[in-house]
Amino acid sequence: MSQTEEKGTRRDFLFYATGGTAAVGVGAAVWPLINQMNPSADVKALASIRVDISDIEPGTQLTVKWLGKPVFIRRRTETEIEEAQSVNLDELLDNTARNENIAEASADDQNRSLDENGEWLVMMGVCTHLGCVPLGDGAGEFNGWFCPCHGSHYDTSGRIRKGPAPENLAVPKAIFVDDTTIKLG
Ligand code: FES
Repeated sequence: MSQTEEKGTRRDFLFYATGGTAAVGVGAAVWPLINQMNPSADVKALASIRVDISDIEPGTQLTVKWLGKPVFIRRRTETEIEEAQSVNLDELLDNTARNENIAEASADDQNRSLDENGEWLVMMGVCTHLGCVPLGDGAGEFNGWFCPCHGSHYDTSGRIRKGPAPENLAVPKAIFVDDTTIKLG
């Protein structure tokens, strides 16, 4: 295993349960078990995790598992932000923000990124067609994410631009707890 792979694997697990998950028994060690047990809706509703983002460099992405699903946390480069912000909204296949943190809004990049500068993008890593996990790191025709299952292309804001997926990648409930920590849920 190369150093990069080792690092990626380690970073994939840089998450931990918070006090909010007390009702289901806290601790990262029990998380895989809870996940396998397919928790009920009320347990799911309580679940939240904090993610350390201090190691994420611009142009890279951390994937964490939350509620049994992958979540992409990407720190975008200036170029990615510029590309995302310069898109004419008329060209979008889904002009809805799909962002749980704000009321219904258009899919402007500003309505999807987590911070004002647009550096941080947090999205469910689940293709909105049939649920595959899209490939990231500039994949696809729009330099964002690409779902190889049936060919859906997402741009650098995670918006669907081409292919069968009907919606933009969903932005889950997320906030900055401090400069280096994001809380999901
Ligand atoms: S599941 Fe992604 S394109 Fe079909």
